[in-house]
Amino acid sequence: MATKISISFRTGKSTLFNAVAFFKLWSPSSNVTFPPPATMITNGHRSVCTKQIQQSQISVSNQSAFNISVPGFPVDSPLSGLEDVMIGYILGKTKATEVAHLAWKYIVQEGDTVVDATCGNGHDTLALVKLVTADKTQRGRVYSLDVQKFALEKTLALLDESLDKDEKEIVKLVETCHSKMHEVVPKGEPVRVVAFNLGYLPGGDKALITGPKTTLMALESAKDLLTHGGLISVVGYVGHPGGREEFETVLEFGSRLPVDEWSCCELRMLNRPLAPVLVFMFKR
Ligand SMILES: C[S@@+](CC[C@H](N)C(=O)[O-])C[C@H]1O[C@@H](n2cnc3c(N)ncnc32)[C@H](O)[C@@H]1O
Repeated sequence: MATKISISFRTGKSTLFNAVAFFKLWSPSSNVTFPPPATMITNGHRSVCTKQIQQSQISVSNQSAFNISVPGFPVDSPLSGLEDVMIGYILGKTKATEVAHLAWKYIVQEGDTVVDATCGNGHDTLALVKLVTADKTQRGRVYSLDVQKFALEKTLALLDESLDKDEKEIVKLVETCHSKMHEVVPKGEPVRVVAFNLGYLPGGDKALITGPKTTLMALESAKDLLTHGGLISVVGYVGHPGGREEFETVLEFGSRLPVDEWSCCELRMLNRPLAPVLVFMFKR
């Protein structure tokens, strides 16, 4: 196996141990007032999700499903959750987005408010809904943004087939640039996670991509909206034109954040230079 891994903490030591410690960071639960339900706003048009789906049909992407099946590695590994996703990543078997979902799992509490800054096909939004509504006793809030109406429709369709009515009601889909997220999230509402999955919509128009200028503005907004104990999570792509420049902007942003208030790290495959790259910025 030729997989190499780089875990570089820009604010601290560079070891796998630190990466694991990062994912174990505790964050206190918030008491967020549940805002009124709303669903999809596109060019002023509002539609409400009503379709009910059996709970058994829901696919939960934040739960670990990694099967260790490499020679010499026990099939019934006692590793679970954190460990098996991280080991899966090291072994080249777990996707960057799954690692991001795992990080959210350790940060998000039931009832939290979170933002999906690029909702696309809706997979990240779905994972976030599951986290903020995990025990059904508290209802959180998920703001999901995209510049493309088509992406919002794809997200809505996924939520329709994956969630029940109550779960869907906590999602607000907004057709807007993520640089305007401070106009979407009500003033004073503490945000636990802002998730960015940059680039273009898989299966969509590859010309419609996130760009360095608006991504930087969105990161600035996210920084201000985020509560202490919150996380900015970025999955970046460097393989398409402009992707590397945009990702450099993300790295510069994270590198500038003061170490007494922020813990920022980057996670990437060394020998797959075009593989997705992860950046986490944790507000202490
Ligand atoms: C990689 S996809 C997101 C994938 C998505 N999170 C998922 O789980 O399927 C990137 C998305 O960013 C959107 N996008 C591009 N520029 C944007 C911007 N300035 N603000 C918000 N979304 C943007 C694209 O339309 C595209 O749907």
